[in-house]
Amino acid sequence: MSEKKLIKQGAESRIYIIDHLGQNIIQKERFPKKYRIEQLDKMITKQRMKAELKALSKCHNANIKVPIVYNSDFKTHSIFMEYFPNAITVKDAFNKFNIDNDKIGIERLGNILGHTIGKLHNNGIIHGDLTTSNFLIENYKYSENPNTISELITIDFGLSRFFDSSQNVFISSILEDKAVDLYVLERAFISTHSDLTDIMENVILKAYISEVDNNFGNIKKSNPNLLVDNILQTQLNTNLNDNESDISDDEIIINDKLNKSINYNTNKTASSFIFKKLAEVRLRGRKRTMVG
Ligand SMILES: Nc1ncnc2c1ncn2[C@@H]1O[C@H](COP(=O)(O)OP(=O)(O)OP(=O)(O)O)[C@@H](O)[C@H]1O
Ligand SMILES: [Mg+2]
Repeated sequence: MSEKKLIKQGAESRIYIIDHLGQNIIQKERFPKKYRIEQLDKMITKQRMKAELKALSKCHNANIKVPIVYNSDFKTHSIFMEYFPNAITVKDAFNKFNIDNDKIGIERLGNILGHTIGKLHNNGIIHGDLTTSNFLIENYKYSENPNTISELITIDFGLSRFFDSSQNVFISSILEDKAVDLYVLERAFISTHSDLTDIMENVILKAYISEVDNNFGNIKKSNPNLLVDNILQTQLNTNLNDNESDISDDEIIINDKLNKSINYNTNKTASSFIFKKLAEVRLRGRKRTMVG
């Protein structure tokens, strides 16, 4: 193999640019964590690599922009993927807009970020490590030319998980995962972009809500009966042991799971369930902070 050029040293991996058939590509190589017991470390590394590969392929199939995977090698814990030479992280883009006092740029970036996360969740993909460093943007100066809004590229899926029942918005554990995903971003955003804290609530979460509710509205419109069936099916398949079915909202009453009886009213928005959970997660987070 030809020469490798190290471009980033992350918390758990090294990012190299390598030459592959005359083209620059990325090698993301996870390195051993010496402080972990060796066997456990190997297991975790393998699991994160598998999660990353799976999520990248899921996103690709769902039309969510991610690096194309060319190859993977479990011996060197490496994923070989598409390199975006002109991209910067969304973190850097926010910082640049902030320095330039470019309010439009900040809003548009926050808006795309919220929509991108909404799309991930709509497809049942929980990222697991949502920070502004884990999204890349090409041509970030789109505010100079509003017609060139660039999609974000989502990366770093080592902690991701996903659900097949992507349409399902009523399963407590899925809602919990989505809410925690948002909470992680919220905490990261507030500490990384302390000048822009209002953007999280007023732009990113708003865009997220619109993406999630729009998607749910479309599903309902296109096939309401199928949705009810799906809810019931997934509820029975994945949630029989879930004792914390605290979705006791008056509008959705699961009368008796075992009797397959469900009373379903479609008036609520998908995001309202996620945000109910988010409120709980925030509360838990605050308690933890106060305790120590
Ligand atoms: N496909 C890519 N094209 C261009 N740059 C990339 C690509 N993948 C990763 N990078 C760069 O490398 C950085 C680290 O990548 P990634 O987040 O996947 O690794 P990590 O080890 O999990 O990092 P961290 O611990 O910092 O989150 C990214 O923030 C980005 O700057
Ligand atoms: Mg990262």
